[in-house]
Amino acid sequence: MRSWPLSAALLGVAVAMEEPLPKTLPTEVVRSLPTSFLDFAPSARAGNKHSNVQSLEDMFSALQVLQGDYYDADYGTWPTAIDWTAAFAQTLLSGALTTLTESLASFEPSISFAQKENLLMSYFHQLVGSYYGQDTLSIRGEAYDDILWVALGWLEAVEFVSTHSALHYPPNTTNSTDHQCLRQVLQDLPWHGHSWVPSFAHRSRIFWGLASRGWTDDLCHGGMVWNPRLSPYKNAITNELWISASIAMYQYFPGDNFTAPWLQQSAFPDRDPAHLAGAVEGYKWLVGVNMTNNQGLFVDGYHIDSRKANNRECDLRDEMVYTYNQGVILTGLRGLWSVTGAPSYLTDGHRLIQAVINATGWDFTRSQPVDQFRSGSLPPWRGIGRAGILEERCDASGTCSQDSQTFKAIFFHHLTAFCKPIETSNAHGIDQNHTAALHKGACAEYVAWTRHNAVAALGTRIDGKFGMWWGPGLFGNVMATKSSDGIDHDAANTTDYRDEGTPVDRIWGREPWSPGSEGVLRRQGAATIQENTNVREKVLSRIRTLAGRPPKEGNDPNARGRGRTVETQMGGLAVLRAYWVLSRSSESK
Ligand SMILES: *[C@@H]1O[C@H](CO)[C@@H](O)[C@H](O)[C@H]1NC(C)=O
Ligand SMILES: *[C@@H]1O[C@H](CO)[C@@H](O)[C@H](O)[C@H]1NC(C)=O
Ligand SMILES: *[C@@H]1O[C@H](CO)[C@@H](O)[C@H](O)[C@H]1NC(C)=O
Ligand SMILES: *[C@@H]1O[C@H](CO)[C@@H](O)[C@H](O)[C@H]1NC(C)=O
Ligand SMILES: *[C@@H]1O[C@H](CO)[C@@H](O)[C@H](O)[C@H]1NC(C)=O
Ligand SMILES: *[C@@H]1O[C@H](CO)[C@@H](O)[C@H](O)[C@H]1NC(C)=O
Ligand SMILES: *[C@@H]1O[C@H](CO)[C@@H](O)[C@H](O)[C@H]1NC(C)=O
Repeated sequence: MRSWPLSAALLGVAVAMEEPLPKTLPTEVVRSLPTSFLDFAPSARAGNKHSNVQSLEDMFSALQVLQGDYYDADYGTWPTAIDWTAAFAQTLLSGALTTLTESLASFEPSISFAQKENLLMSYFHQLVGSYYGQDTLSIRGEAYDDILWVALGWLEAVEFVSTHSALHYPPNTTNSTDHQCLRQVLQDLPWHGHSWVPSFAHRSRIFWGLASRGWTDDLCHGGMVWNPRLSPYKNAITNELWISASIAMYQYFPGDNFTAPWLQQSAFPDRDPAHLAGAVEGYKWLVGVNMTNNQGLFVDGYHIDSRKANNRECDLRDEMVYTYNQGVILTGLRGLWSVTGAPSYLTDGHRLIQAVINATGWDFTRSQPVDQFRSGSLPPWRGIGRAGILEERCDASGTCSQDSQTFKAIFFHHLTAFCKPIETSNAHGIDQNHTAALHKGACAEYVAWTRHNAVAALGTRIDGKFGMWWGPGLFGNVMATKSSDGIDHDAANTTDYRDEGTPVDRIWGREPWSPGSEGVLRRQGAATIQENTNVREKVLSRIRTLAGRPPKEGNDPNARGRGRTVETQMGGLAVLRAYWVLSRSSESK
């Protein structure tokens, strides 16, 4: 059995790659540049301008409500979130700040830099606060996916620091500011945000290291296991997070000289081949095991059939489709392209995005939904949505758990990351300008669909708060139930465990799991270690209980179930940000 090199490193053992990184990538990966990343003829909408300041205003308003109504500075967290959804809130806040600083650079030149900086810093301080508010002790004991959200989140924060600093400040040099005159210091001082980078980087490194224990070669020839305390289940989310966090570590982790509490070991370098290998091998495994269905969408994962003696194969597939499983891998694919220059990673990402858009019932060539819809009636389900709107299977019936309330935000966050303009400066021996143009052209084809979703989401706002299900923003209020929402909730081998928990059976095992339960289990454990987390947890849990009171329903489908929450607010912010960023870059030169 092989463990990832950093697991060994965490124990203070010398780092040695069991398998050296291949000099050239596997041949199935290096394919030539396709003539297009599109599986359809591009639409004839040249000159169709999308971006306008109103969409920046809409994105900003979603951010204001997220931070103003759901963030609590005293606790340094979003108290109604659970550990992993708070980790994603921190990730999305970092991404939104990157977008905001980039957008403000050219916004209203009459407004001073100090005024713009004042706004950005009001949020940056909340981001820093959430570093201390993060319950790391708890998350350490959770499932590997929970752990990996933390690693990705702080790398996103490192990216914000680099972006903001590069836009406005001198480079972060090692030049000491001691014994220099005031004028010199004022001119040369790097942005103070850099002083947080070692902390952010350290946390990412620790959590990536903890997660690396989830990779096991003895079952299914590789892959990450979801949860060490349950029957082995190798699911899409944990593996996608592993791939994306590993390549992001390779790209953005600046190295870490902070070794406590493992003082015996040396520092952790940047550009660690273990991180690149984690991503490359992880993706090879994910493709090899086949986690996509006949619509090209990621299904949830694989069990190991316990009816067969000594079975070690991933041979029982769960067909459940969630939106976030179509998203997280996009950051991994984009990063793998940036690092290796192999166009097939981009091809795979574009193919997945197009499969998703298509399965919402969207006609690319006409840039509109395939189905007609009437106000007040439910258009047909198309696999991952209807009438061109991305939809979770729990959305229309108002039955989403706290977990799945976060999923659409995750999809749009990673779509935004994937469609970042391609750096033409890095040379991989391929004509990168051509790749960049193809990539930009393909992403431009996603703008109309993203806009369609953004407009629907905006239509569900009450007091600036977004609903979970965006459909009503397009086709009006429909009170569907699980038996009338047009979705086959009893389809074979399809377990909605993220909403309903795991069944206790031969396939899922004897230990039941329910959404959010990890948090509860761990919190009890943590209290024995650290007394004062008890008080904090008591207050936080009271806030959660108060917020959890069912809202008045009326005829608003989004008032059912958990109603409007910090998680559904993230959905609104993520889709508006995706629309603003994609439309802007499709129009840039
Ligand atoms: C560091 O400081 C020295 C002395 O003031 C100066 O000559 C040098 O250019 C500085 N380096 C950078 C990268 O700013
Ligand atoms: C930037 O500066 C800080 C504080 O001086 C330092 O700790 C950090 O390592 C630097 N970061 C980079 C990327 O050079
Ligand atoms: C870690 O320390 C080494 C040796 O002093 C230095 O070269 C490197 O830049 C440091 N890395 C970071 C991220 O501070
Ligand atoms: C993966 O499985 C799906 C569903 O069974 C099937 O349609 C598809 O062809 C498979 N893909 C590969 C590459 O084997
Ligand atoms: C459900 O799983 C069983 C066992 O793997 C398999 O034989 C069957 O074909 C699957 N059915 C569907 C519809 O995926
Ligand atoms: C889109 O979905 C339809 C069925 O809804 C299918 O026939 C078609 O092949 C899909 N197209 C692409 C490009 O995936
Ligand atoms: C590629 O694009 C960059 C800027 O976008 C330009 O400077 C460079 O000349 C281009 N290279 C080629 C080979 O066209």
